[in-house]
Amino acid sequence: MIDRPGDHVRAGGAGLGAPAAVTVEDGLPTVAEYRDLRAAVGWPSPGPDACRAALENSVHGVLARDRRELAGMARLVGDGVMYLLIVDVVVHPGHQGRGLGRRMVRRLVELAGARRVQLVAAPEVVPFYEQLGFVRGTSHLMAYRTVG
Ligand SMILES: CC(C)(COP(=O)(O)OP(=O)(O)OC[C@H]1O[C@@H](n2cnc3c(N)ncnc32)[C@H](O)[C@@H]1OP(=O)(O)O)[C@@H](O)C(=O)NCCC(=O)NCCS
Repeated sequence: MIDRPGDHVRAGGAGLGAPAAVTVEDGLPTVAEYRDLRAAVGWPSPGPDACRAALENSVHGVLARDRRELAGMARLVGDGVMYLLIVDVVVHPGHQGRGLGRRMVRRLVELAGARRVQLVAAPEVVPFYEQLGFVRGTSHLMAYRTVG
């Protein structure tokens, strides 16, 4: 099932190490929340329409909320069957180090069930994912070099 941006269905449970006020729930952020959260960790984003389309094409999304404020997000993209990729794992700097990233990734893995889940990790966050049970593969990430 594809979550729609703005649908915030409560589903996640409390995890260790996070304040009780912060919930982890299934859903996707609004376009404004998405762009703001990415900007908070220094990630550029395309325009609002492109972001909306990207979010709408998600397979699943997970949000961390401190009351109404968005503290973090993560989502699964892919064909929903053979290829599932975790992307956009972001915790607002003011909420990092409280177990929210761990809770969100665990929830996405739970939603994937028996399906294989993969991700592309920046070198500095490899230990974060290794703690969660991800193992390094031998394949290389390759990107087509666009001209211009
Ligand atoms: C990476 C990120 C998602 C981690 O989220 P977080 O909520 O701060 O992490 P958690 O508190 O859930 O950490 C869980 C465990 O991973 C460890 N960890 C977190 N970030 C780590 C890092 N960058 N390197 C190594 N270990 C890390 C924590 O110490 C914790 O371990 P502990 O239980 O032994 O204390 C967050 O720092 C972030 O949003 N960074 C900027 C965006 C980014 O780089 N995203 C990843 C894209 S691939």
